[in-house]
Amino acid sequence: MGDSLDLFAAFTEEAPENGSEGQHPQAPRVQELHRQLHHHAHCYYVLDAPEIPDAEYDRLFRELQALEAAHPELLSSDSPTQRVGGAPLDAFASVRHRVPMLSIRTETDTESSGAQAFDARVRRELGLAADAPAVEYVAELKFDGLAMSLRYEQGVLVQAATRGDGETGEDVTANIRTVGQIPLRLPEGVPPVLEVRGEVYMRRDDFERLNERQRDRIAAGEKNEKTFVNPRNAAAGAVRQLDSRIAAQRPLSFFAYGVGEVLWDGQASQPPWASHMELLQTLKKWSFPVAEHASIAVGATELIAFHERVAVLRDNLPFDIDGVVYKVNRLALQQQLGFVTREPRWAVAHKFPAQEMLTTVLGIDVQVGRTGKLTPVAKLAPVFVGGVTVTNATLHNEDEARRKDVRVGDTVIVRRAGDVIPEVVGVLAEKRPDGAQPFTMPHVCPVCGSVALREDGEADYRCTGGLFCAAQRKQAVLHFAQRRAMDIEGLGDKLVDQLIELYFCKFSCPLDTHRKYGRLTGYGGFLASVSDKKIITKLRLNKNKRKEKFKPQLIPMGLANLYQLEAMHLLELDRMADKSAQNLLDALEKSKTTTLPRFLFGLGIRHVGEATAKDLARHFGKLDAIIQASEEQLLQVNDVGPVVAHSIRTFFDQAHNVEVVEQLRACGVHWPEGEPVQPTAMPLAGQTFVLTGTLPTLSREQAKALLEAAGAKVAGSVSKKTSYVVAGAEAGSKLDKAQELGIPILDETGLQALLAALQTP
Ligand code: IVH
Repeated sequence: MGDSLDLFAAFTEEAPENGSEGQHPQAPRVQELHRQLHHHAHCYYVLDAPEIPDAEYDRLFRELQALEAAHPELLSSDSPTQRVGGAPLDAFASVRHRVPMLSIRTETDTESSGAQAFDARVRRELGLAADAPAVEYVAELKFDGLAMSLRYEQGVLVQAATRGDGETGEDVTANIRTVGQIPLRLPEGVPPVLEVRGEVYMRRDDFERLNERQRDRIAAGEKNEKTFVNPRNAAAGAVRQLDSRIAAQRPLSFFAYGVGEVLWDGQASQPPWASHMELLQTLKKWSFPVAEHASIAVGATELIAFHERVAVLRDNLPFDIDGVVYKVNRLALQQQLGFVTREPRWAVAHKFPAQEMLTTVLGIDVQVGRTGKLTPVAKLAPVFVGGVTVTNATLHNEDEARRKDVRVGDTVIVRRAGDVIPEVVGVLAEKRPDGAQPFTMPHVCPVCGSVALREDGEADYRCTGGLFCAAQRKQAVLHFAQRRAMDIEGLGDKLVDQLIELYFCKFSCPLDTHRKYGRLTGYGGFLASVSDKKIITKLRLNKNKRKEKFKPQLIPMGLANLYQLEAMHLLELDRMADKSAQNLLDALEKSKTTTLPRFLFGLGIRHVGEATAKDLARHFGKLDAIIQASEEQLLQVNDVGPVVAHSIRTFFDQAHNVEVVEQLRACGVHWPEGEPVQPTAMPLAGQTFVLTGTLPTLSREQAKALLEAAGAKVAGSVSKKTSYVVAGAEAGSKLDKAQELGIPILDETGLQALLAALQTP
């Protein structure tokens, strides 16, 4: 790196002479403001480490704006005020690249062999013997944006051009000037002509915010506004925006990764950096953003390690990448390798499996969730994306489906990044088959045929079938059985699928009837399948004729009869072995001893999550008190607002829900009931605490229980809303954050004192 740093010593531009003759009296102040604003913009946009508050930056900015307005002769193109965009253009001018903008060969093999193949090629072309030392590379991220060439003359940005066909691009200077991360003026010591090449891109969070804003605009009826399918598309739209004032509102970022023409004192000469890594470090010194991930990799093994490391990192990066790039580090070797057509032999792009792919929509199904929510789901021709084969993508709800306007037969872009559920991000309108019909949400439940309603102000249609609906029963059982609720081990998706198809049949009839119907045995009740149901219905019809005391009562399997399952029922199920049947029965038995919050949460009342269930249990003490509570009484509970109160009341107003509760209790589900805690005894209601580190005597659970008993909420992370942080030994970043935000901090003694003070009225 030595020689590139020496550059600074060698090329110090003559400093502008302050107070020289004929100079405007305000010029020094304008220059000082330029210097300060450039410096703080660099700290803010590139280093992500502002040194002054935003308000102070704004003050300096306004001072400069005022000076420029009063003395237009002091306005220059590199002024920080010139980032806001100017009058719209009719078209972009063409720019001939003095040094062509090359592309890189792509290694199509996304496996590690891609890196091996590149290294082998480089070694062969350099004529290296098998035992010659490994070649040194720089491994970088392959940013998913647009290549850009930035031309600086005398340290001032004079032109920004897109790649175009590599020979000729478009002049997008006005738009690029609005990108905060791109320096308008470079520090002293840079060559008089410098073209920096890199990628303009949009961060994912900026993209989300932009799309949110676009949606608001569309909702407000603004014509010609649209949302963007991905950050790349949004960045491309911003760069090619003829009105730079619009471009200024599209948040772009930049990474430098190379240079084009570089002239020292007007003559082309050898670059004084001897390696690509030195070039990157120099660009960073010259205030360009350079991705921190670039690293030296020696030989194919380290290239493979980099590829693997970045594959893991990929989903957590704040921007999209579509692979990595390997470049031979020494410039002398790069020169020796040269080019084939438009591609250098010394670089290669090694891709990752794509996170976006095209596929076709085979159908649109509507699925029914636990609370009856109807969700449209696109059924897709199987497509390998983000490392898995995707066949479904949620369309969320009616509005979302309409907004995306996905139709059966459409060609769509499917995206799957990380663990995120696959999504249809856009439709290729030009590929839509003739006669494709817009999707409409059904107004009846596709599972049980009950009416589906969308209430005012709600995004979702809901099936009104309640526990009559098999889909809702299934989800209700799964929710009830989950670990955080009743914790019934082994009662998973597949088993519930089988159970839910069955009917619990309660009856009394002579023994021979049982025998006649084979597996339909037992006195207390049995499980019957749909086809058995037909037989039983027939029997029921015949019962008067036959004068037998036979009154089968069919109840679909669901929460209510879960605890009535017996071994003989389970053994009837597909491939259920003795052992697993017994395990499930044991798990059911064990789950009967529970707590009121778990039971309440398990009931799956809309808007009642674990925290609310705890609040309700603490406030009322007993389940019956909750069942009987009016909305007003429910509103007294910590954190329960009108929507939640209404939802709880509605749930218990439905007789069948109360019946389910009774049945579960009758089967032996029980919990210790407590005394109601009145709001007056909840002095910390509405306050949020965060615990961090190890307290001297209290365990974390104990401290949490004490706080919750006083009505406080205990959260996992510190935010502006945190009331107190309780810190013990080895408290980490949470304590730092609390100090940063000025949140009161207590130690254990302080906590005990606070709680004690609350006890004494
Ligand atoms: S170097 C001579 N480095 O990939 C090599 N390109 O086809 C010139 N890209 O158009 C490019 N990340 O837009 C280089 N770290 C990186 C890159 C990168 C993304 C893009 C660039 C170029 C394309 C290569």
